[in-house]
Amino acid sequence: MIMPDSSHMNEHRSTASHAGGAATLAADGQGMAEAARLLAAGWLVALPTETVYGLAADATNPVAVARIYAAKGRPAFNPLIAHVPDTDSARRQGLFNAPALALARAFWPGPLTLVVPMSPDCTVCDLARAGLSTVGLRVPDHAATRAVIERLGRPVAAPSANRSGHVSPTSAAHVLADLGQGIDAVLDAGPCSIGVESTIIACLGGSPRLLRPGGITRAAAEAVIGRKLVDAGEAGAAPIAPGQLQSHYAPDAALRLDADAPVAGEAWLGFGPDPLLPADGPRANLSARGDLVEAAANLFDCLRRLDASGARRIAVARIPAHGLGEAILDRLGRAAAPR
Ligand code: TXA
Ligand code: MG
Repeated sequence: MIMPDSSHMNEHRSTASHAGGAATLAADGQGMAEAARLLAAGWLVALPTETVYGLAADATNPVAVARIYAAKGRPAFNPLIAHVPDTDSARRQGLFNAPALALARAFWPGPLTLVVPMSPDCTVCDLARAGLSTVGLRVPDHAATRAVIERLGRPVAAPSANRSGHVSPTSAAHVLADLGQGIDAVLDAGPCSIGVESTIIACLGGSPRLLRPGGITRAAAEAVIGRKLVDAGEAGAAPIAPGQLQSHYAPDAALRLDADAPVAGEAWLGFGPDPLLPADGPRANLSARGDLVEAAANLFDCLRRLDASGARRIAVARIPAHGLGEAILDRLGRAAAPR
């Protein structure tokens, strides 16, 4: 078993300027080199991606991966996505059938995770795969993070860098608010451009299955594979993995979806032109011009801001179900689910 190297630990602890909490690293050459060095030594570094910030560890090191679960307070049966710098690296870890390869070619680097059978040479540890014989792989569309992973020379396991079940982080400040005391560093590259997690598609023979809607729309994926995606929950589709928990992405406040307007005491989360609102009260708008791409990018930040206002309940405007609306509604539905 690989242990974090204690000489690195002392060096890290004594040179870091962050009394006990996470160091913030700039997304420049020096920061990226430091991020790779910490990961190689078995430490946790939050890395930016185009979707959300990920809490990264060396995916080949089970001790480092165990620290992810501890930092997040995550149920340890939930498998993690292994992030790699390019499709060739992904194909060393997993076995790609024709639809998997077509999807990789069309959407990588980008907000797509492919669940495929692990290859005989797969180096992603058992713990990161939650003991499954499949592996979730993604090439993120973020140059700084790809450079860190390339420099490390190993896949990086990274769930979203939030407390388990809480709203996902789309900025370094979100990461520090949730996990600042439990991790070693965050590479700060500003806000995430897409703002909802990757679309997850399982390609395990038979029809590819949509495990989670996300940054690549269903329609775009179906156009590439030339057939309909089967929904994970549909009859005949056996569950592949736990972890699609019903209550998830949850702010502390309760959510009321499909609202026309807030009632007394509610915060308001709008989409498109706002209805007549009371003069005061916490409010945010996902996209005043009704743009789903902008709304996805703003979703988690808006939820965090309304939560921070102390409101007990957030009323959320109606959101169309097409395009990225499917992923936004999935996240809002889980955030609103009974806990
Ligand atoms: O955009 C994203 O996907 C972000 C960034 C950081 O890449 N990551 C992310 O990770 O959202 P996480 O851990 O919050 O969600 C990963 C999901 C989990 O629901 C997990 O069950 C599923 O991916 N997953 C990973 N490997 C799997 C596998 N082998 N089989 C089935 N599901 C898998
Ligand atoms: Mg997550």
